[in-house]
Amino acid sequence: MVKRKKTLTPAAAAEDIISAMVDTLVLVGRDGRILRTNQATLDLLGYKENELVGEPITKILPTTGAGSSLYSIFQEAGLRELIKKGHVRDVEITYKTKDGREVPLSFSGSEIREGKGELQGIVCVAKDLRDIKRAEEELRVKAAELARSNAELEHFAYVASHDLQQPLCTVESYLLHLKQQCKGKLDAEANESIAYAVDGSSKMRALLSGLLEYSRVNTQGNPLEPTNSAVVFNQVIANLKALIKTSGAVVTRDPLPMVMADNVQLIRLFQNLIANAIKFRGEEPPRVHVSARQGKEEWIFSIRDNGIGIPLEYAESIFEMFRRLHSETKYPGTGIGLAVCKKIVERHGGRIWVKSRSGKGSTFYFTLPKKEIESVTKKQTRIKALVESLKKLE
Ligand SMILES: Nc1ncnc2c1ncn2[C@@H]1O[C@H](COP(=O)(O)OP(=O)(O)O)[C@@H](O)[C@H]1O
Ligand SMILES: [Mg+2]
Repeated sequence: MVKRKKTLTPAAAAEDIISAMVDTLVLVGRDGRILRTNQATLDLLGYKENELVGEPITKILPTTGAGSSLYSIFQEAGLRELIKKGHVRDVEITYKTKDGREVPLSFSGSEIREGKGELQGIVCVAKDLRDIKRAEEELRVKAAELARSNAELEHFAYVASHDLQQPLCTVESYLLHLKQQCKGKLDAEANESIAYAVDGSSKMRALLSGLLEYSRVNTQGNPLEPTNSAVVFNQVIANLKALIKTSGAVVTRDPLPMVMADNVQLIRLFQNLIANAIKFRGEEPPRVHVSARQGKEEWIFSIRDNGIGIPLEYAESIFEMFRRLHSETKYPGTGIGLAVCKKIVERHGGRIWVKSRSGKGSTFYFTLPKKEIESVTKKQTRIKALVESLKKLE
C-alpha cells in the first residue's frame, strides 16, 4: 500500500508509482552504475537498497564482465536491440540474485536522452517470469507424460489386437471344420449354436482389425505428400461400388483441392464417412454430397447426407472408440470407424466434428491445414522453372 501525501506533486506521484510497481525497475546511469531501483527489485533479488544503488549493473545482469561501457554491458547481456533502436520490449533475460541464483525475467528497457542529445542512462523494467516458467515446465512434463502414455496405450492396443488374431484364427478354422464335419448330423438347435459362434468370431475379427488399424494410424502412417482429394474421392467411389449400387445411393462432389496428406489414410477417412452416410440412411434413397471450402489457414471438407441424423447430445461421443447409437442388427458395425477418422484428421493437424439433427441428415466436417501444401507447391513450381531454364541452357 502506498501512503498518500497530502498534496500530490508530479514528482511525489512518480515516487509512489515506482515504489508501488509490482515489476522490477532499475535505472542505470551513463557510467553503468545503478542510480535507482524499487522495492520489487530488492524483494526479488534479496538485496537492500544500499547494496544496489551505486553498484555496477553487472552485479545483477549476467555478463562475463568483458566490457565496462554501458553499450558493451547491454550488448553482452543479449540486449543488442536496446543499443540499436534505443528500446526493447519483452526480451527474456535473467538477473542474478544476491545468493547467486538466476531469475528469468521479461525485460523491457529504453534509453534516456536529454532531447536528442547525449545518453543519460537506461531505464529497465522487468517482469518476474518464474511462475510462467514453472507453469510452462509443468505443462511440458504433462504433455510428455501424456504422449508417453498415449504411445504406450497405442502399443498395447497394437500388441493385443495383433496377438489375439492368432488364437481367433484357430477358433475360426475349428468352427469351420466342425460345421463341415457335422453337416446333416446335427439338429437345428446345434446348427444354430454353431452359426452364432461363427457370427461371434467374425464380429471379433472385425473388432480386432479395427483396433489394429486404429493403433497404426500414428505409428505406421506414410509421410504427408501433396494429394489430390478429387482423385481420393474417385478411388473411394470405386471401393464402395457394391454398397452404392445395392443402396441406390447418389454420391456427388464439388471441385476438391490438393492437400498435404497420407494418401492411404485420406482414402480411409473419406471411405469411413461416405460409407456411414450411406449406411445410416432413412426412408429416402441416400444422397451424399462432398465439398470443400477454403478457410484462412485450412480447407474445410464436408460430407452431407440425408440419413437418420444424430441427436445433438451424441455429436461428440460418436467419435469415441466403440461408441454406437444403434443395434447391431439394424445397422451392423464395430464403432471404430469414426475413432479412426478422428485420429487420421488429428495426425494431419486438423479437426473433425458433426452437425446434425435427428431425422434431418448429418454433415460431417473435417479440416486439413493449407500452409504446407502452399510451400510445397511453391517449391515444386520453383524446381520446375529451374529445370526448364537448365534445359534451355543445354
Ligand atoms: N452419417 C451418419 N448418420 C447417422 N449416424 C451416424 C453417421 N455416422 C456415424 N453415425 C453414428 O455414429 C456411430 C459411430 O460410427 P462409426 O464409428 O463409423 O461406427 P460404425 O459405423 O461401425 O457403427 C454409428 O454407430 C452411428 O450411430
Ligand atoms: Mg462406420
